[in-house]
Amino acid sequence: MNQEDGLFMKRFSLIVLGLVAFTIVMILIAHYMHGQLIPTSNPVRDQMKLARIEPPTGVYTSAEAAARNAVAQKPQAAFAGALDPVQIYNNVCAACHTSGAAGAPMLQTQQWTERLAKGNEALYASATNGIGIMPAKGGRSDLSDEQVKVTVDWMLDQLD
Ligand code: HEC
Repeated sequence: MNQEDGLFMKRFSLIVLGLVAFTIVMILIAHYMHGQLIPTSNPVRDQMKLARIEPPTGVYTSAEAAARNAVAQKPQAAFAGALDPVQIYNNVCAACHTSGAAGAPMLQTQQWTERLAKGNEALYASATNGIGIMPAKGGRSDLSDEQVKVTVDWMLDQLD
C-alpha cells in the first residue's frame, strides 16, 4: 500500500465517522422534537371510541325484556297459521311442484296415479315427514300438519 492509499483510507474513515456522528445527532434531535409535540387527537378515532363505549340503545326493564323474549321464543306459525292452501302452495310447494324440479310430481293426474293409489293419509304423511328429495313440509317446518294437509287436498283437487 503506497502512501497515497494510506492517506485516502484515513480521509475516507474520517468521512464515514463524521457521517455516523451526524446520523446519531439527527436521531437525538428527532427524539427530542417528538417529545415536544403536543399530542393531537384523531377525530375519526375519537368517534369510533365513543361508538364503542356508548351504551346499547333500547335498555329494557326486566319485565319488558321478558315480554320480548317470550315473543322471540314463541315459534311463529307460518302464514300466521292461515289454512289457505293457495298461499301455502304458491309460497312453499310451487317451487318444486309447478316446475317439476327434482322430479317433484306436477299438478297433472298422470304424474299422480301411482301416488293416489297409496291413499290420502299416506300422501299427507309423506308431505309432512318428507319423501325422497322432498324435505318435511317442503322445508317449512313452521307449517302445521293441518296446513300441509289442506295444501295436499288442494293440490289433489287441481289435478286435471
Ligand atoms: C324442494 C322441492 C319440494 C318442495 C318445496 C315440496 N315438494 Fe312435495 N315433493 C317433492 C318431490 C321431489 C317429490 C317426490 C318424492 C319421491 O317420490 O321420491 C314430492 C312429493 C310430494 C307428494 C307425494 C308424496 C307421496 O307419498 O307420493 C306430496 C303430497 C307433496 N310432495 C306435497 C307437497 C306439499 C304440500 C308441499 C308444500 C308444503 C311440497 N310438497 C313442497 C319436492 C318438493
